[in-house]
Amino acid sequence: MEETKVIELLLTAEVYNRYEELTEDDIPKEIRKIFYGKSGISRPLVVKMDTAKKVSKNIDSIKSLPFIDFNEFSKQFKITSFDLAIQWFAKRGLEQIKKNPVLAYYYQNYDSLGVSYEEAKRFNKPKYGDREWLKTIIAELEKNEQTAEMLGLVRIYSPEDIKIDFASIALTDEQIREFDKIEVALERRDYLKEIGVLEVGKLMFIGPPGTGKTTTARALSKRLHLPLVEVKLSMITSQYLGETSKNIEKVFEIAKRLSPCILFIDEFDYVAKTRTSDEHAAVKRAVNTLLKSIDEINLVEDGVILIAATNHPSLLDTAVWRRFDKIIEFPEPPEIIRRRIFELSLSRIKGEFDIDELVKLTDGFTGADIKLVIREAVLNSLMMNMEGLDQKLLVEAIGEVRERLNLKTSY
Ligand SMILES: Nc1ncnc2c1ncn2[C@@H]1O[C@H](COP(=O)(O)OP(=O)(O)OP(=O)(O)O)[C@@H](O)[C@H]1O
Ligand SMILES: [Mg+2]
Repeated sequence: MEETKVIELLLTAEVYNRYEELTEDDIPKEIRKIFYGKSGISRPLVVKMDTAKKVSKNIDSIKSLPFIDFNEFSKQFKITSFDLAIQWFAKRGLEQIKKNPVLAYYYQNYDSLGVSYEEAKRFNKPKYGDREWLKTIIAELEKNEQTAEMLGLVRIYSPEDIKIDFASIALTDEQIREFDKIEVALERRDYLKEIGVLEVGKLMFIGPPGTGKTTTARALSKRLHLPLVEVKLSMITSQYLGETSKNIEKVFEIAKRLSPCILFIDEFDYVAKTRTSDEHAAVKRAVNTLLKSIDEINLVEDGVILIAATNHPSLLDTAVWRRFDKIIEFPEPPEIIRRRIFELSLSRIKGEFDIDELVKLTDGFTGADIKLVIREAVLNSLMMNMEGLDQKLLVEAIGEVRERLNLKTSY
């Protein structure tokens, strides 16, 4: 029903304006998005014609409802009788009320509709997962020269803009369990703080190139609805004395400003690597700054999940190593993981495949190599004007990728 959508919008605005204790997180995500301005969402919420049009194209019938007034001059909708509107919507919008914390807050004390604010809140995603919310925070940081400079060091993603789903990555049960733990810790931050268990949420991903470390960090941001702050240590390492230390501090500062979020530090061994080459006071200082920054950030108090990734764990010294509460391995994928990657990547492609054979033939391949196999096979099939794939094309593509891998090791 199109009418109920607009009335839900109007009532949500009205109830939100009346009850100061309601927060932006209580407004349903789809409605919240309509109200974002340059500096976030401002009270009171005002519903104009173009606001209403965002939830329904057909709004003329709303104007004739006895509890609605539309001002032709200001183009603004108003509820003229709150009680009537509440009654009208109770009869027609119960399903919407159950999922709308703002409305559930009001309606839980109204008649016996059996709605609960707490229950409704579970349906609603918090605002820090909104692309628009992140934009307003970034716009705020850009206003100040110092913080604007910090933004240049990192890449920031809204979870809404991340394409990769957690479910489309082949992970071991052990890995999945660790990510489940992080999710629970995030939900129970208050409890963990209360009992003083703070050292959670610092993960180190180790493994060879192409095994899914970056992909998993991004997918985790989408799964947990947290913004992702991504930085490569090589990108913030400067040849100028002291700059690297300052940059490291700035990156951690940005993460705290965007909290709750995930801070993903890629090429984590980079600082360690430079240390072994040019033993140099500035580099030592950079490592110390990194250690100190890691110590001074945690999920429970700061809302920051720290994920570091490296291909060269042996380069990291023990001081760095022991600051991470979980080391998550991304090894060269065993058969069971290769099987899963094939299954996932072929699930939307037409054709009959002998996955057992594909798994056998790809010993030593990483996830990235398998993706390359599929891509090659698909392109070859397109060259032949063929729809979908077959086993032969896949086996040939495995051969091509195998040759390429051999080239890499033969020089
Ligand atoms: N376990 C996996 N499941 C699904 N896809 C995978 C897996 N491992 C790798 N891939 C695919 O391989 C590609 C490369 O993965 P990714 O960039 O995450 O690797 P990485 O471990 O970060 O490598 P590097 O150490 O070089 O940064 C991506 O397209 C990803 O989808
Ligand atoms: Mg990577």
